[in-house]
Amino acid sequence: MFLRCPAKKAGQSFNKASMQWNFQDIYDQAQVESQAVDSPQALETFRLKYLGKKGLVAAIFASLASAQSGDKAAIGKGANDLRGLVERLIAEKSAIISTAKIFEEQVDVSLPGTGETLGHTHILTQTMQEIISVFEQMGFVTIETPEIETEFHNFTGLNIPIDHPSRDAFDTFYLDAQDPSATGRRLLLRSHTSPGQVRIMKQNKPPMAVIVPGRVYRPDAVDASHSFMFHQIEGLLVDEKVQFSELKGLLTEFCRRFFGPKVIMRFRPHFFPFTEPSAEVDINAEVLGIQRKKWLEILGCGMVNPKVFKEAGYPKNKYKGFAFGMGVERMAMLKYGINDIRLFYENDVRFLKQF
Ligand code: DAH
Repeated sequence: MFLRCPAKKAGQSFNKASMQWNFQDIYDQAQVESQAVDSPQALETFRLKYLGKKGLVAAIFASLASAQSGDKAAIGKGANDLRGLVERLIAEKSAIISTAKIFEEQVDVSLPGTGETLGHTHILTQTMQEIISVFEQMGFVTIETPEIETEFHNFTGLNIPIDHPSRDAFDTFYLDAQDPSATGRRLLLRSHTSPGQVRIMKQNKPPMAVIVPGRVYRPDAVDASHSFMFHQIEGLLVDEKVQFSELKGLLTEFCRRFFGPKVIMRFRPHFFPFTEPSAEVDINAEVLGIQRKKWLEILGCGMVNPKVFKEAGYPKNKYKGFAFGMGVERMAMLKYGINDIRLFYENDVRFLKQF
């Protein structure tokens, strides 16, 4: 043990006759002593012993006054090195002691761990990504178009006449903002993703194969199957030769990939102003294990109406195309057996974490 008065108590480390310090012994001893330090109090005692005002480092510096001039440099260096060594030992020990303290105070290692809960994407986002990925694998490109639309893109460009009931304020949310491109017309929240067709055709030349995912809005009363906001994915393919059989083939393949190979579907004639002929696609619910009804509608589709090509500014009779539009909530409800659309928007983690 080194003591505060080196001349008296440092034993072998200080040779009084030659006024020399045995630094190697001092370093070794400091190291050995530091190993026994196991509490903040012991650490402070250790610090004071070496670095305190009356500590060994100070004593070594004090001995410089009576040292021979040839020894002074070595003594000064020895004292500085000792200080560096002790500081390092203190830093190491203090890290160990404080970690041990945290463990002692806060962690009962015998208790089961709590683990981190990792979040994940919402089931609607997952469904949307799944649908998009199937179409992207088949060569479609994803494009997003605005949720705030003009009457032209939402209706006129899609051959929806001015007196069509869907234009009524009961069926469409109109904004309190004028459409800068059409006098006397207000902007609106798109009621479907089909206006994406008009925008994309106006800006691009065929051939094209695109999908347009996004939110749509309708002033519907909220119940188990309706919400004033929901999601759709629109599809559009335009080229010089396109046939209805290709639309059928594409959607059949999509349903097999999305719902599984056993899916049974049917194409039922329907009317949409922007496609001619048009159809709705139903899937057989029994096969999916849903008992409520035998057939459930999942999407609308058809061959692009030549009037829509005309609105887009395409030359007459040059192009053909098909389009389709599906509700994302509907697809998720069927695939995952969810029976109430409101569950998607309530953000109840007990529901969300099931998917
Ligand atoms: N826009 C239609 C709706 O919201 C769905 C739809 C039907 C989209 C036929 C299409 C289509 O592209 O060809 O009810």
